[in-house]
Amino acid sequence: MPVIPVRHALGSYSVHVTPGALGSLPELLGKAMGHRQLVIISDDEVSRYYDEWTRTGAGVDSEAPGDATPGIRLRPKAWLSFPAGEASKTRETWIRLSDEMLSLGLDRRTAVVALGGGVVGDLAGFVAATFLRGVPYAQVPTTLLAMLDASVGGKVGVDTPLGKNLIGAFHAPAIVVADPLTLLSLPDRVFRSGLAEAVKHGVIADASYFTWIESNAPRIIAREIDALAHLVARSVEIKAAVVGEDEREAGRRAILNAGHTIAHGLELESHYRLPHGEAVSLGLLGECRIAERMGLAQPGLADRVLGVLQAVGLPTRIAHRPEIARVLDAMLHDKKNVEGQVRLALPTGLGAMHEGEGKWTVPVTHDLLASAVSALT
Ligand SMILES: NC(=O)c1ccc[n+]([C@@H]2O[C@H](COP(=O)([O-])OP(=O)(O)OC[C@H]3O[C@@H](n4cnc5c(N)ncnc54)[C@H](O)[C@@H]3O)[C@@H](O)[C@H]2O)c1
Ligand SMILES: [Zn+2]
Repeated sequence: MPVIPVRHALGSYSVHVTPGALGSLPELLGKAMGHRQLVIISDDEVSRYYDEWTRTGAGVDSEAPGDATPGIRLRPKAWLSFPAGEASKTRETWIRLSDEMLSLGLDRRTAVVALGGGVVGDLAGFVAATFLRGVPYAQVPTTLLAMLDASVGGKVGVDTPLGKNLIGAFHAPAIVVADPLTLLSLPDRVFRSGLAEAVKHGVIADASYFTWIESNAPRIIAREIDALAHLVARSVEIKAAVVGEDEREAGRRAILNAGHTIAHGLELESHYRLPHGEAVSLGLLGECRIAERMGLAQPGLADRVLGVLQAVGLPTRIAHRPEIARVLDAMLHDKKNVEGQVRLALPTGLGAMHEGEGKWTVPVTHDLLASAVSALT
């Protein structure tokens, strides 16, 4: 099973994508970080699946209690958790976790293990980035979104009342261990949400990966392990290749934002009730239609994307009636805008993005944005 090397300005690490990899965590973490005192940070939902088994110290020889809950075979110094959900991704939780670690008397020989979805990864990574000015951490993602997107790239942080991910750091993990077996216990909606980023990876970088998702959609939604392992591995390779090119969001890294400008507008307008992956599904479709309308993409691209999104059970129409003006307003105030201009990373065809004089984004008029959002209702 694949081990994908990731190299970018923040550091080098490998992403292990193997069914059953959790069983090898002690060896994998030992190799990547040396002998350290481990602190597992997780949320209370994920802890329900893994905590008891680990805490009872079933030990490295025991069998996992079930396919969907492979044991993690670690004996951490501490297991810290917080209530599951985006609402916990705050400075308050960061303070609580950091203080708990300080009161345990942990020193710089500590390493953090982020066990959970993207919320855990971002928060635990930010704790690791700042604890005693930075200690190593391992990403052990347990949602599809975290495996194929959030755990790779080294962006960590928390939300504030003024917006998501506004306070944070760049801190590369020492290792990422993705065990596709963990995905079997995910609620359906959370699982499908992650698929939007995989479709995005196909659109921005790899037509044959897109076609593979198209023809394997039934196996993917049935969560066949081989299909999941391939999905995660290929998506990680694509993200790793892009972040490996340049670090701080300039240049080609912008293509990873495909679909995300409209997605962020929809998320904000819904007060974050719309899950990120569903917003990305809608945003990707809307932005592909804009690319066609601007004559950048070959006709038919958006319909092809629509078909695959539907095949994997992602939304292609907004279920509620959004206030278009609020969606637009949110897009106009996106932190990625330059001088008030909304710029999108747009595809020219499957697996190819518009380079636009090396900027990888183009300015888009408010009218086009508004009509693309309306067309999604
Ligand atoms: N740092 C980055 O580059 C990056 C990229 C994309 C997204 N993100 C962040 O990721 C977050 C979203 O991540 P997410 O979608 O994984 O959400 P999440 O972490 O909230 O997980 C979703 C839900 O699934 C539960 N869960 C997790 N693993 C499970 C398992 N194996 N079985 C059963 N339930 C499980 C969680 O407890 C939670 O209730 C956002 O905060 C977003 O900003 C970060
Ligand atoms: Zn995303």
